[in-house]
Amino acid sequence: MPKRSKSSSRWLSEHANDEYVKRAQKEGWRSRAVFKLAQIQESERILRPGIRCVDLGSAPGGWSQYAARIAGGKGRIVATDILSMEAIPGVEFVQGDFREESVLEQILQRLAADKVDLVLSDMAPNMAGIDAVDQPRSMYLAELAIEFADRVLAPGGDLLVKLFQGAGFEQVIKDARTRYARVVTKKPKASRTRSPEIYLLARQFRMV
Ligand SMILES: C[S@@+](CC[C@H](N)C(=O)[O-])C[C@H]1O[C@@H](n2cnc3c(N)ncnc32)[C@H](O)[C@@H]1O
Repeated sequence: MPKRSKSSSRWLSEHANDEYVKRAQKEGWRSRAVFKLAQIQESERILRPGIRCVDLGSAPGGWSQYAARIAGGKGRIVATDILSMEAIPGVEFVQGDFREESVLEQILQRLAADKVDLVLSDMAPNMAGIDAVDQPRSMYLAELAIEFADRVLAPGGDLLVKLFQGAGFEQVIKDARTRYARVVTKKPKASRTRSPEIYLLARQFRMV
């Protein structure tokens, strides 16, 4: 078996000892990421019963499980990921690479003309560990999510999107302020301190 690098060994041991990994396993959530959304929900109440929501970068499905639980069998949750995802009751899934026009079209067709109340994006590329590669890739996915929100959000709708601090970050926030009444960043406790990830929460979409 090939020898593990120091950083992958560190990741494995941190993962096994992580309180959120343990809680996710115990409570039946598919990912520790669910606690990031739950912590944002606690203060911001972005999800509600009957909500219409799209979850971009949904696999393995923690956020979708959580959104479906709050939606309570009413409203609609459409999830998408480049990877496959095991079915979740109350969640429609489209598999594909969100950077491809054909995948975007499939999602838009699925929504038909219906607008949604909330766009979630936890999309993150496979990290190369090289900032000059990772930052533009992550930023591109976030920009696609933001453009998508412009197309599908109902007036007054909300967007929660994962960003990585670095080149382009301030500009994205500035742009969001032109289209949403309230824009804040969130670093939930469940997000690892040394991760550059941060969530942009933009509320009360105004039509563009
Ligand atoms: C941090 S994980 C999401 C975890 C998820 N929120 C949960 O609670 O289970 C990021 C996801 O983004 C997806 N992703 C990355 N690039 C993508 C792309 N181009 N199109 C669609 N999904 C993508 C990955 O496959 C991965 O499943």
